[in-house]
Amino acid sequence: MINLKFSHEHLSGFLTDDELLIMQEELNLSHDMLVNKTGKGNDFLGWVDLPEQIEEALLSSIEEDARCIRGIAEIFVVIGIGGSYLGARAVIEALSHPFAGMMNNRKKAPVIVYAGNSISQDYHAALLNLLDEKDYALAVISKSGTTTEPAVAFRILKAHLEKKYGKEDARNRIISITDKSRGALKKLSTDEGYKTYVIPDDVGGRYSVLTPVGLLPIAVAGFDIRQLVAGAQAMRKVCVAVPSIIENPACCYAAIRNSLYRMGNQVEILVNYEPALQYITEWWKQLYGESEGKDGEGIFPAGVGFTTDLHSMGQYIQDGQRMLFETVITVETPMHNLVIPFDPADLDGMNFISGKSLNEVNQMAALGTVLAHIDGEVPNLNITLPKLNEQNIGELLYFFMFACGLSGYILGVNPFDQPGVEAYKKNMFALLGKSGFEKESEAIRVRIVGE
Ligand code: PA5
Repeated sequence: MINLKFSHEHLSGFLTDDELLIMQEELNLSHDMLVNKTGKGNDFLGWVDLPEQIEEALLSSIEEDARCIRGIAEIFVVIGIGGSYLGARAVIEALSHPFAGMMNNRKKAPVIVYAGNSISQDYHAALLNLLDEKDYALAVISKSGTTTEPAVAFRILKAHLEKKYGKEDARNRIISITDKSRGALKKLSTDEGYKTYVIPDDVGGRYSVLTPVGLLPIAVAGFDIRQLVAGAQAMRKVCVAVPSIIENPACCYAAIRNSLYRMGNQVEILVNYEPALQYITEWWKQLYGESEGKDGEGIFPAGVGFTTDLHSMGQYIQDGQRMLFETVITVETPMHNLVIPFDPADLDGMNFISGKSLNEVNQMAALGTVLAHIDGEVPNLNITLPKLNEQNIGELLYFFMFACGLSGYILGVNPFDQPGVEAYKKNMFALLGKSGFEKESEAIRVRIVGE
């Protein structure tokens, strides 16, 4: 039994059931490749069965480390980029009080901040200003152990931490999460004696949220990783069971996306009505963008937060080039109550909604928007969560990962590699004069200077 509901009731006029069911044969093949691990990239399918295989010892160890960190740190810095931080951030921000860090009576867990997810000098310098004043610990997360952004951030923060606490105490404030044997981070961690968690060989970055990559920061932030895993387990059962477009929500989503894509809808917009879900969208964008965008193919994954972005992107979505479809995440029950007050003067004319909850207004905005966008020829899909909690987020994450694997296979690409990511790195290393890139350095110099 799962709580997440996927619905496509607003597709009529865009895609008939018969047109959709034409995809069943392709889905059967994709589902088989995913579940039986026979398709492209099948050495990176460890995440498919992972929710069932997470060991009690691992969960207990992560919970114990999280307890220790909560005892010594006001700030916990998560160093990582792409799949090595987005899953953790997505879950933490979805479940956190947005102002927890600024409230005096909410000191149960450290504030989680992120580093090594950019190369911004100002961002990292400002972070050091904060860390001068606060007690902190950190996790450095990199599967390859060689990614420039987290490596540079860790170099800076390690020096800061050792200066602040001394080498011995600093060592106890660092947890590394990396490959079991390869990469510079693994070697450094062994040499320095850091507590280290392993990212399984067969789980790629963007599918790694249920490994220590996601679980450790989420536990440090004070959330129940067992419930998160339980949600993923429940959704996995449904996803792997029958490859039916009618019965299996992930199959249905994958089939609809590919049908709409073939009809010219090249952009999918993930829509939410809760600012807390912004990083679920960022995680989803990476998951689908890196998995599908290759070989000249792929739906471009975009994201908006409504009603905020109705005042910026609403015009385009309603009325711009018709190549879009939307997947709307709706949360039924908010975590807090808030009723709009009556105002005798009613100068803003809002008394007609006084006494209603803000959530009722948000829901009517959502319904009104769906109907308007359908009128504007934007096909709409919906994912409903009863509320934001660990179980439901676990379901959502697994639903999206499984559907992404299916969808990529239907598209005909390898959803588990990312060869295109190397292009910028090659140029950057050539420009920075990295040893081994001498030929590229010369070529790029000629290209820029023109001689
Ligand atoms: O999904 C992926 O594989 C990537 O986004 C990686 O997670 C990202 O590039 C970071 O790589 P690493 O964990 O090796 O530092």
